[in-house]
Amino acid sequence: MATLLITGGAGFIGSHTCLVLLEAGHNLVVLDNFSNSSPEALRRVASLAELPPATQQQRLRVIQGDIRQPADLQQAFTAASIDAVIHFAGLKAVGESVQHPLRYWDVNVAGSRQLLAAMQVAGCRTLVFSSSATLYGYPDQVPIPETAPVQPINPYGHSKAAVERLLADLAASEPGWRIASLRYFNPVGAHPSGRIGEDPNGIPNNLFPFITQVAVGRRQQLQVFGSDWPTSDGTGVRDYIHVMDLAEGHAAALTTLLGEPPQLLTLNLGSGQGHSVLEVVRALESASGRRVPYALVERRPGDAATTVADPTQASARLGWRTRRGLPEICRDGWAWQQANPEGYASAPPAG
Ligand code: NAD
Ligand code: UFG
Repeated sequence: MATLLITGGAGFIGSHTCLVLLEAGHNLVVLDNFSNSSPEALRRVASLAELPPATQQQRLRVIQGDIRQPADLQQAFTAASIDAVIHFAGLKAVGESVQHPLRYWDVNVAGSRQLLAAMQVAGCRTLVFSSSATLYGYPDQVPIPETAPVQPINPYGHSKAAVERLLADLAASEPGWRIASLRYFNPVGAHPSGRIGEDPNGIPNNLFPFITQVAVGRRQQLQVFGSDWPTSDGTGVRDYIHVMDLAEGHAAALTTLLGEPPQLLTLNLGSGQGHSVLEVVRALESASGRRVPYALVERRPGDAATTVADPTQASARLGWRTRRGLPEICRDGWAWQQANPEGYASAPPAG
């Protein structure tokens, strides 16, 4: 059992990972500024983990604060003796990063630098970092191994590449760092209870939340970006990973880091399976019993035809692989959307 600092723990991937880590017996300190999440997510995590009220404050401490603020980081590192950090906090919208690159270099890069400086002061040298398959840009080969060139094509990707570079420099500068950079493919789905899930602000940029919002009646129809890609049905192919598999991947990475000599691990987290946009539409229709009307439109600038992970290294180094496929992704994502049509805003006010 360890005491862990989880930055961005109230977000989509962070909340599911918090639940898996609490169920594994770890104590958590969550630092989140709630810029893209709701405190309600963590209340539901505590309830799903069935934390007895007497232990709740020790098992799941929540600090509202910003990773760019040294005082907030200091508060987090003095709330408990932190054994390891899982660093989710960051901005993730590709289009916004093109419009506002300074925000991405500020939160993702400068924020990570502040966090690493605070870890040094606190003597904590174990970190799991949320990286992204966006680093591979337009991949030269599919499935994509970790040895593929890092060639991001937008400021969001540049910010992730910069942090990976910083982590490599840090690991080389002094012995003792245990670091895992996890390159996620396309995280989707929800906890099977339907009580926590993805709650994007405004119109979703990503396929899966858009489709579930169409199915629940919040949006009229899906626009399918491109039907002339060199894929089986002409629509884009991605490696969709159930968020619970991803959460379990973080727990596995932590166990490996804490149980092995110091090292820098860089691993793809994906399923190794690709699905086209139309396959996802059909799977969601079948899970929900609802129709998902769609229109075939122009390709979206910046998209690749196919991105699929080679997950061999994650399996070899972590003893982890995905256990859930597209039917489970759609079943659980639909359960969340149906029970929470407006996301966490559907919840009755607290008190
Ligand atoms: P999310 O937006 O749901 O979660 C991010 C969390 O960080 C939110 O709770 C937000 O409030 C918090 N946060 C943002 N800026 C902060 C700051 N300055 N200080 C403290 N907290 C802050 O996103 P997510 O999908 O859960 O992604 C988590 C991480 O994984 C991000 O770093 C993201 O770049 C990375 N990632 C996500 C995807 C994806 O498709 N979801 C893919 C690859 C990588
Ligand atoms: N798509 C549509 N219509 C939509 C949205 C998406 O047809 O309304 C298509 C896209 O063209 C693509 C596929 O659905 O073929 C998946 O698109 P997403 O936007 O869901 O995901 P991306 O693969 O483009 O990117 C996501 C994140 C990135 C991250 C990447 C890999 O947005 O930040 O996964 O992790 F880097």
